[in-house]
Amino acid sequence: MTTELSAPPTGPSAPVSTTDTGAPAPSDQFSLGTGPGGTGPILLHDFHFVAQMAHFNRERVPERNVHAKGGGAFGHFVTTEDVSQYTKAALFQPGVKTEMLARFSTVAGEQGSADTVRDPRGFALKFYTSEGNWDLVGNNTPVFFVRDAMKFPHFIRTQKRQPDSGLQDWNMRWDFWTLQPESAHQVTYLMGDRGIPKSWRHMNGYGSHTYMWVNEAGERSWVKFHFESEQGVVNLSNEEGAQAAATDPEAHRRDLFSSIADGEFPQWTLYVQVMPYEDAKTYRFNPFDLTKTWSKKDYPRIKVGTMTLDRNPENFFAQIEQAAFAPSTVVPGIGFSPDKMLLGRVFGYADTQRYRIGPNYLQLPVNQPKVEVNTYQFDGPMAYNYTPSQPVYFPNTVNGPEVKTDLFSGHSWETDTEMVRTAYALRSEDDDFGQARTLVNEVMDADERTRLAITIASTLGTVRPDIKERVFAYWRAVDQALGDAVADLDGSAAAEAHGPAPASDDPDTAVNKEVTIERG
Ligand code: HEM
Repeated sequence: MTTELSAPPTGPSAPVSTTDTGAPAPSDQFSLGTGPGGTGPILLHDFHFVAQMAHFNRERVPERNVHAKGGGAFGHFVTTEDVSQYTKAALFQPGVKTEMLARFSTVAGEQGSADTVRDPRGFALKFYTSEGNWDLVGNNTPVFFVRDAMKFPHFIRTQKRQPDSGLQDWNMRWDFWTLQPESAHQVTYLMGDRGIPKSWRHMNGYGSHTYMWVNEAGERSWVKFHFESEQGVVNLSNEEGAQAAATDPEAHRRDLFSSIADGEFPQWTLYVQVMPYEDAKTYRFNPFDLTKTWSKKDYPRIKVGTMTLDRNPENFFAQIEQAAFAPSTVVPGIGFSPDKMLLGRVFGYADTQRYRIGPNYLQLPVNQPKVEVNTYQFDGPMAYNYTPSQPVYFPNTVNGPEVKTDLFSGHSWETDTEMVRTAYALRSEDDDFGQARTLVNEVMDADERTRLAITIASTLGTVRPDIKERVFAYWRAVDQALGDAVADLDGSAAAEAHGPAPASDDPDTAVNKEVTIERG
């Protein structure tokens, strides 16, 4: 019996197992020792065994510093409308179909963490366009927690773990958020119903930042990208999220993979909001501030095309783990904006990827553009691609690559001023709480507001009293009644029963407190 199990049946069609250098492998089961009876030491010249050990020790790359847990799929984007008056980018010309890759993720958790936690979701897209790759590295929310890249590492450390206990800690989060009121809009999204999507298929994606579009005539516009889910936006309650985290931590990864395997291909429709270049100078708030959305009344959404995901990865590590998305990956017709977060990210991603994957990460098939690459960057670990006889320096007299046309000309804005280290200059509607208040009062209904208050209160169990006071003040600044409700709910069975904090031993842990957030 035992013998049968240890010797799996092999068919005549099974390929011959080989060493890494292609010779027939001596064994995939037994290391070379001294015999008989297998009591002797293992011999160092069993190079095939040594290769197993050594390769295994090098089989992981560092996980992403943020967005470590995720999943993805390939697909295509079709531009169904004519937006050529705004951009010359080849992928956005009418009828053009572009192959692409999408990766979705949570932010704070590590590789093995559960999918259904309360966290923003990453929405990273790579388009293999005919002019080189374009990456849009966005989230499922249109705004972010901070508006200056200098604050990002500090913010992320509050989401990660305490240096001593290795535990996540709501004290850090609320301490930081309440000291950075610009976080209010995004924290309202996070604590609201959209904080736990039902699946990656059931959420929208946003470029979040303001980008620039440049048309064939060189005219510039500011643009925001919105990918609307054709599956609808569907979310999980705190209880459903906790249940899924306990029983199927990979729920979202599984959902995407099995939907595509079953031929159910998720789709998103891309809309853009376009702001004329000059409007930005006088708009009532800073349109480059990542904590703000633009009014759809001022800048209605314009349809662009459809994204469909229809092909699962064949190898998760090669195609998803080693995928490298970066806001610096741009094509002619798409540029940056003076958003300080975006400009910080333009540096950050390629830098981390040179470290996380290696300096030649762009030569991996998943990251490689589908067009010829003629760069003067050479060599380095694992260098693979090369063009025969290409000179390594410029200028040269041996027909090396030349910049033929300045395709990126005009993808810029005017800066003729002193260098300063300050926040954005305030305009009439540049307050931190206004858009969060609109979200609470005009987008959420009464039930959503109640759940929002309960969810916030449920995170406060272990929070220091002085930070709690700031939390109440923060939410009162968003909306007086909401802040009062949070304070009122703090410590209640309702908050405990609904939240991530452990439920109390009291058998009556059901919601036993009516919460009504009065309007007006
Ligand atoms: C991943 C840094 C803000 C969305 C990452 C990674 C880093 C990073 C280092 C890991 C990349 C990798 O290892 O491949 C930053 C910095 C930011 C910032 C420095 C601000 C200054 C944002 C914002 C968004 C965002 C505002 C969304 C609007 C993402 C996504 C991923 C990611 C979706 C995962 C990409 C993937 O699936 O591989 N970020 N981030 N980040 N970031 Fe950011």
